[in-house]
Amino acid sequence: MAGNISAPGQARWSSKAAFVLAATGSAVGLGNLWRFPTEAGSNGGGAFVLLYILCVVLIAMPLLLAESLIGRHGQRSTIASAAYLARQSGASPAWSVLAVVGLIANTAILTFYCVVAGWVVYFIGTSAADVVSAVSAGTPMAGAYAGDSVETIQQLMPDLFANPVLLIGLQLAFVAVTVWIVARGVKGGIEAAATWLMPAFFFLLIGITVYAAITGDFAAALTYLFTPDFSRALQPGVLSSALGQAFFSLSLGGGAMIAYGAYASRDTNLGQTSGMIAFADTSVAIIAGLAIFPIVFSVGMEPNAGPTLMFQTLPAAFHSMPGGAIVGLLFFVLAFFAALTSSVSLLEISVGWVTEKFGASRVKASIGIGVLVFLVGLVSALSFNVLADQRPLAFVQGFETATWFDAIDGVTGRLLLPLSGLVTAIFIGWVADRKLVDAETGLKGGGLAAWRFLIRFLCPLAVTAILIIGLFPQLLG
Ligand code: TRP
Repeated sequence: MAGNISAPGQARWSSKAAFVLAATGSAVGLGNLWRFPTEAGSNGGGAFVLLYILCVVLIAMPLLLAESLIGRHGQRSTIASAAYLARQSGASPAWSVLAVVGLIANTAILTFYCVVAGWVVYFIGTSAADVVSAVSAGTPMAGAYAGDSVETIQQLMPDLFANPVLLIGLQLAFVAVTVWIVARGVKGGIEAAATWLMPAFFFLLIGITVYAAITGDFAAALTYLFTPDFSRALQPGVLSSALGQAFFSLSLGGGAMIAYGAYASRDTNLGQTSGMIAFADTSVAIIAGLAIFPIVFSVGMEPNAGPTLMFQTLPAAFHSMPGGAIVGLLFFVLAFFAALTSSVSLLEISVGWVTEKFGASRVKASIGIGVLVFLVGLVSALSFNVLADQRPLAFVQGFETATWFDAIDGVTGRLLLPLSGLVTAIFIGWVADRKLVDAETGLKGGGLAAWRFLIRFLCPLAVTAILIIGLFPQLLG
């Protein structure tokens, strides 16, 4: 059973736990470590966090169950699985458009995801060099970047941005590793990474959070993250960012969970596993926030620093930490694997479809799509230097100041993922055969009734409302 997981109807995760771990591996990634703190900081903190949690519980979690059941029922690529359930329900296979939108969104997300993951690779490099010099100086337990000031450490990101060739090289390296793993068939490698490295990462992150809480300004971080300013909660951008983040972080609205559900065995209770995955993912995001924001306030940064936030705060914590050089290296290595278990799921969607549809080999499909992802990703890498002044969506309200990077991130997260989720909710709640669907959920009684209510009424209405408000912010005045 080792090797290729993409053969429909045959391959399975080796156990129930392996499915949960692999899906959690897809969910937990840069979305939690990097995007959640960035978005929380750009949207005023508490109000965003509250809306985000509401979106996860009321919208994303029910959709996670919907996506994984489409996959497990279909046992095919994401588009074919959706079409299969539609046909079995006597509906048009055109409902599989939900997975088409998702496939486009996921591939687009992967283009900038690899750029950010490249920054992680960069910090693995600088941290490794740092450990080597600490060890050769006879002080292996030194803090990270021991000879440098915090200002110098925070300058690492701007310096990296000023070097497009290096930035692109790092991006390419990460694309290549992702392609390599998907080309070999993701099962073996991903299961191992998800089983051993993700739990290790979780405990390391908790340790770093405790350290940040003790040495940083924990009180300010708590106030910032958990005291909602309700006047901000009603700003349209905040609401659509919170929904987008819920989709992004749980790998929803694209088919990743359809794809992984397809490898879940029949005795997996998808209702239960959806709850576990959502809980684990949200916990990691909050814990990452609690590691990063105390440092933001203690080193006097602005919470709305944008995409560099994580990379300018955590190294400062490692700097003051005893043994920080080694802890920092370990952190970035494990963050790399967290990103990899996510990027693999992003690439798997289109590779699964191309192999099934065109009979291409996995190797060819992975390399071909990988090249495309790398090329399109160049505009994101160059958004921090050569193309920094371009505003591709200047004519769209809410995107006036967006660079290419922001535009691809924003359009996928705030528009395409929720759109795919909306079609999924209508399809599963109203169109698909109710008996088939209910049997797949593993839910009974009140749980099933609650899920049915959310997927039929709340998800479609709330996502539609948020999409409309996001597109036409003037409606809120
Ligand atoms: N959820 C991942 C993260 O938080 C990113 C990701 C993986 C993703 N697969 C996805 C996002 C599918 C949207 C759709 O890093």
